[in-house]
Amino acid sequence: MKNEELVLQWKGKQAVIPAPLQLVQTAAILLQETPEQDSQRLIQGENLGVMSALLAEYGSKIDLIYADPPFLSGKSYRVRTGHGEDSRRPENWKTAEAFQDQWNDRGDYLNMLYSRLRLMHTLLADSGTLYLHLDWHAAAYARVLLDEIFGPGHLLNEIIWTYHGPSPIRSAFKRKHDTIYVYTKSKEYTFNADAVRVPYQPSTVKTFSSPKAGFGKRPDLERGKVPEDWWYFPVVARLHSERTGYPTQKPEALLERIILASSNPGDLVADFFCGSGTSIAVARRLRRRWLACDGSSVAINTTRRRLLLEPEAGGFSVWVDKAIRNHHTLRPRIEVTTKNLHVEARLSDLDLDALTAFELDWDFDGRLFRSETQSVRGWQQGRIATRLGHSYPEAGNYMVAARAVDAEGQTGLVTERVHVG
Ligand SMILES: C[S@@+](CC[C@H](N)C(=O)[O-])C[C@H]1O[C@@H](n2cnc3c(N)ncnc32)[C@H](O)[C@@H]1O
Repeated sequence: MKNEELVLQWKGKQAVIPAPLQLVQTAAILLQETPEQDSQRLIQGENLGVMSALLAEYGSKIDLIYADPPFLSGKSYRVRTGHGEDSRRPENWKTAEAFQDQWNDRGDYLNMLYSRLRLMHTLLADSGTLYLHLDWHAAAYARVLLDEIFGPGHLLNEIIWTYHGPSPIRSAFKRKHDTIYVYTKSKEYTFNADAVRVPYQPSTVKTFSSPKAGFGKRPDLERGKVPEDWWYFPVVARLHSERTGYPTQKPEALLERIILASSNPGDLVADFFCGSGTSIAVARRLRRRWLACDGSSVAINTTRRRLLLEPEAGGFSVWVDKAIRNHHTLRPRIEVTTKNLHVEARLSDLDLDALTAFELDWDFDGRLFRSETQSVRGWQQGRIATRLGHSYPEAGNYMVAARAVDAEGQTGLVTERVHVG
């Protein structure tokens, strides 16, 4: 096909590349030692400025970007913060705002998307792949934008993710699919067909298992087939153990297929609209390096909690846009008791029902919180331990710092000096 000019125009179309944000590290999460612990980053900030800040270090370095931005739905999304409530009565649930998907007009939305897609293209390695996840609201426009940025010849797949679920619609067909555009930066890209094979349909197996099957090429029934470009995975529902309560959470099975197909262990996977951290939790489990970003503190705390719940998958660092003032609004207390070289810290003075994580730095330097011991509430579990202990290697004076987080993403940080030995 000739390289014809076909671009989407709208009033006020512009791609912005803002000045890089200044990112500061607020925590080092010291879980199982991994060789590159510090380069696995969870970043809170507006993603355009964050991507711009990452350009110097990561330009043309990211192997796979999964992008699940707001869909132009016109809605405002809330996260569920209570627990033990009647799950059949959503009207009674305790919630807090997670993020907004509201725009002045389509041009406003498209400017948001256009600028970010261009930066993602720049950040991708020459052999890298972008998966852009949208639905009927904006997918058609995005397809034309991606053709402009990546080149129409670089569309690898248009994936249709289908699912079931209730819908109030009675005057049209129920809208139960999303569209995921897959673009590669060049013709040399990673695609691990064997990593994502699935069993053939029982009817195919039956046909080709028959001794009379003499027609056509016999498929390798043992090896399975490369999936079609339409996928069925159930949405994350109330009773699924992976459910975090974050709205628009995507299923891990969907992300697993994407990450297995389009990256290798050790590759760098990024998600700049990470929400509850689905892509990153899966990438980390599959031993990929990763970068995650979201503008919402609830999203960042949900992702942090999700990663803490799987300590064996490795440590990471937490960063924030320096301009965001995340005031600690919780005012917990810690009571510290010592015996020889051992110390115990007990958290008090806060709503323990709402507490989602309690982390301790046993030797705080007054600057960077090094999370060494954690107590984290699972998604279905009630209360968590509020007493944590530590044995120091030698006698001395130390500063103990405790970080508490509640379901709304509010945090508190308290310190206490101790003498042990
Ligand atoms: C559709 S949700 C992502 C859900 C995620 N894939 C999951 O499985 O949980 C979109 C996320 O993008 C974030 N977001 C929207 N605009 C942003 C921006 N400009 N910068 C950073 N994050 C943004 C929202 O806070 C929200 O968490």
